[in-house]
Amino acid sequence: MNTLADLKSELKSITAEFLSLKNLSAEERKQKGIELNEKKQSIIAKIKALENSPESTLPPVDITAPFADNATPSPLKSGSIHPLMSELEHIVDIYAKMGFNVMESVQLDDEFHMFDSLNFPKDHPARDSYDTFRTSEGFIPPAHTSTMQYRALKKYKDNLENGGEIAVVIPGRVFRNEDVDPTHEHTFYQCEGVFVSKSATVGNLIAIWKQFFEIYYGEKLNIKTQPSFFPFTEPSFEFLLEKPKSLGGKGDGWLEMGGCGMIHPNILKTAGIDPTIYRGFAWGGGIDRLVMLKHTLSDVRFFESGKLEFLENFSC
Ligand code: DAH
Repeated sequence: MNTLADLKSELKSITAEFLSLKNLSAEERKQKGIELNEKKQSIIAKIKALENSPESTLPPVDITAPFADNATPSPLKSGSIHPLMSELEHIVDIYAKMGFNVMESVQLDDEFHMFDSLNFPKDHPARDSYDTFRTSEGFIPPAHTSTMQYRALKKYKDNLENGGEIAVVIPGRVFRNEDVDPTHEHTFYQCEGVFVSKSATVGNLIAIWKQFFEIYYGEKLNIKTQPSFFPFTEPSFEFLLEKPKSLGGKGDGWLEMGGCGMIHPNILKTAGIDPTIYRGFAWGGGIDRLVMLKHTLSDVRFFESGKLEFLENFSC
């Protein structure tokens, strides 16, 4: 079979033969010239056909490589959605199907949304527990998605006046001045939930979050709460999940998935909602941790690393 390389070297030798025509008689030169020219045209046509064939644009097959590498029809590798973003879409989708609105968080905030609107007393040590970054102008990259609670309450307040409720989830990127290690990152994602109606209860809160986790992990789960403290909820809880069986759980490992509680009346008041008529609950937890558990990942720092070896595991 003629390969591209064979044809090209044949073309070269024909070019050399053309040069030797000058040594022939006029009659012979004419005869041989016609012959050589026909040969040349036919080789050029074969080269063009080969160069335009799809096979010639593919890299050679590497028989030692994993199957997928050679099966790719295009020599260009396509990118993929970051695992946190695809999980985030899935998470938001679950809440949307439960009837929640979705708001996007901000990446630069201020003292009012980070602390004042969340009932942190001025100069209270609880403000220090959030390892907050600050710009030289005093802006704050949010340390949690709870900074969106005031905005969510304001935005959907009319729902209450129209006889409905506020039901919103807010995923967002958050930042903390942390020492990084396999389970701590300075930049990570959280998802906040806010619900307000005339009759909201802790029972509703626990049922919603449990239902969310069961849909996310695709199995029945055991959950528990334990008392906690947040200035913006009263009472406040931590929400724990028994490690799912599909992920090696044997009924003895409890994982802390985030904080929650009944929205403090001061938060409602600040947003212009009468706490003697309406009550609400809120919850918030890390997304990175959820995704790490789902994919049995051991180091949270991979997410922000931009390492292709890591990201390629999630391309489809
Ligand atoms: N924002 C809290 C944190 O990052 C978690 C949290 C606790 C969110 C209680 C809430 C809540 O909405 O009600 O530690």
